[in-house]
Amino acid sequence: MTEQRLLFVCLGNICRSPAAEGVFLHLLAREGLEQQFVVDSAGTGGWHVGNPADRRMRAAAERRGIHLPSRARQIETADLHRFDRILTMDDDNLRAVQALARGLDRQPHQPKVPMARIEPITRYCGRFQVRDVPDPYYGGEAGFEQVLDLLEDACFGLLQELRRG
Ligand code: 4NP
Repeated sequence: MTEQRLLFVCLGNICRSPAAEGVFLHLLAREGLEQQFVVDSAGTGGWHVGNPADRRMRAAAERRGIHLPSRARQIETADLHRFDRILTMDDDNLRAVQALARGLDRQPHQPKVPMARIEPITRYCGRFQVRDVPDPYYGGEAGFEQVLDLLEDACFGLLQELRRG
């Protein structure tokens, strides 16, 4: 398998996308595939830059044996070229990243450089049929569990797809 570079994106980069990053890294470690991937996460907003993942998100992940190593950062245009795939958590994130990509497309005299494939992570769910990974930030504990249920399902499907090539 050639090296794959994946960026998970949500709004604040403190709940859903750090969880997606941690869940995917956990799967890679289990399968001994860490060397084949570069995995990162980012937010479309910049309010929490530099912060670790939300304490409630980290606690829910730790209960499943999953560590969330991320520090929040905001997505930047260079990410569209640094990564092979950008996996978004909801429609707002998808539109924001697509808008960033359209802005790049319109710049004159840009040499043609490859751009990441941008897609909703829920596309890779097998057990669940949902469009969005719901934002858990203003809700209760069940929301964080739901995020992890969806992301474990989606990340498993994503890894299977990438291994198939
Ligand atoms: P995330 O959740 O996008 O899953 O990281 C959020 C975290 C913070 C805020 C919104 C969503 N906020 O408005 O501060």
